[in-house]
Amino acid sequence: MFNSIRVRLTLWYLLVFGSLLVGFSSYIESSLARDLREQFDTSLLRTSRTTANYFSEFVERKNVAGGARETILEMKLEKLGAAIFQGNELLATSGEEVNRAMRSAGSRPAPMFTTDPNLHKRLVVFPFQAEGGKYTVGILAPLNELEGQIGRMRNIILFGLPAAILFAAAGGFLLVRKSLEPLVTISEQAERISAKNLHERLTVANPNDELGRLAAIFNALLARLDASFRVMREFIADASHELRTPLAIMQGESDVALSRDKTIEDYKQTLHIVRGQTKRMARIVSDMLSLARADAGVQHLRVEELYLNDLVEECCQAAQALAHPKGVQLAWEASDDISFRGDEELLKRMAVNLLDNAIHYTQPGGMVNVKLTSDQSLALLIISDTGIGIPEECVGRVFDRFYRVDKSRARAAGGSGLGLAIVRLAAESHHGSVDVVSQPGRGSTFTVSLPLQT
Ligand SMILES: Nc1ncnc2c1ncn2[C@@H]1O[C@H](COP(=O)(O)OP(=O)(O)O)[C@@H](O)[C@H]1O
Ligand SMILES: [Mg+2]
Repeated sequence: MFNSIRVRLTLWYLLVFGSLLVGFSSYIESSLARDLREQFDTSLLRTSRTTANYFSEFVERKNVAGGARETILEMKLEKLGAAIFQGNELLATSGEEVNRAMRSAGSRPAPMFTTDPNLHKRLVVFPFQAEGGKYTVGILAPLNELEGQIGRMRNIILFGLPAAILFAAAGGFLLVRKSLEPLVTISEQAERISAKNLHERLTVANPNDELGRLAAIFNALLARLDASFRVMREFIADASHELRTPLAIMQGESDVALSRDKTIEDYKQTLHIVRGQTKRMARIVSDMLSLARADAGVQHLRVEELYLNDLVEECCQAAQALAHPKGVQLAWEASDDISFRGDEELLKRMAVNLLDNAIHYTQPGGMVNVKLTSDQSLALLIISDTGIGIPEECVGRVFDRFYRVDKSRARAAGGSGLGLAIVRLAAESHHGSVDVVSQPGRGSTFTVSLPLQT
């Protein structure tokens, strides 16, 4: 039960509200009771003063004893209990109780109140002078009515308080439930979203409040997840498709070879094809592995000191074997030594992939130019060709995995669409970048920039 935020919030609310309410009502109760008692005393004092004034008039008419008696009767003070003394001499009284109370209180120069807890009555003793004589009037009033009033007020508070707390609890619970409702909706919706329906989003009632912002953050997270899931799915689909082609070729070739007796030459031919396809598969798998490792952040660079110019020259010489038979002219501008710290294997794959592409996508009779330059901070490898170029709308995508402008043509050329992805991986692994500028029909220029002193 305490695991529910709703219950916890309600309890906290009750604790705070309840203690406030208890504190406030006890303050009200005590101050009201004090006011009622003060009012009671004030009215007793007023009665005693009026009595004294009234009595003084009789004294002036020299009718002392009768005056005292009449005063008590006329003021209807019998039911309260009143007595008038002159010094110690009792002039008139309405009962024994008040006499006794006044005697035990004694005479004072100023008005005085005492409470008799046994009788449950309050006594006011009021001294006054009339015609030179010293008198005291005493009034003994029952406290029942006052205590009754105070008791009733206390009861109201005592019964009202739990009721108020109960209502507060119910109200608090409803309030908390209402404010947490969007959270419940969010969690229910989130529960329904899995890898299969990652495109779904949480509904945002008010994007500007706290929960709206939470939902928006969640939606952004879903969008990123959705995007990376889609990339992953595409990658897997593309990879399977890519691997299926060489497998189908190998299967077809071996089926034909096994279907009937062949000459040694035919078998050799078949094995040749199988080997070619195996190589192709091996290259695809190794490229995929490199990319997967880089994605997972476990790519290990074997960094060593090398000369970029030697590395590029070596690759150019190897590429000649491809360019020459095709009738593409490969020109390589020798450059000064450029010392570099990097992974030789990966950098070679980068250069080879760029040279391969330049030769592949250039018609016989075309040109491929390779240039390596450097200043203090940057080495630039520029490979330009006079080939078919890349349509403008595809330029942004050629570095994507498995992306090819013309699938059938590229595949016939032995490409898998991972070449430029590896080029970008190699450049970025060395804190560099790669760019392409291309004009369809005129040629393309790929530029790799590698920061020196990495
Ligand atoms: N030098 C180039 N000239 C024209 N198009 C190119 C060039 N280099 C790459 N491309 C285009 O970019 C695509 C991706 O290249 P890449 O990743 O090396 O894959 P692949 O060469 O296996 O097709 C190619 O299919 C091709 O359409
Ligand atoms: Mg390629």
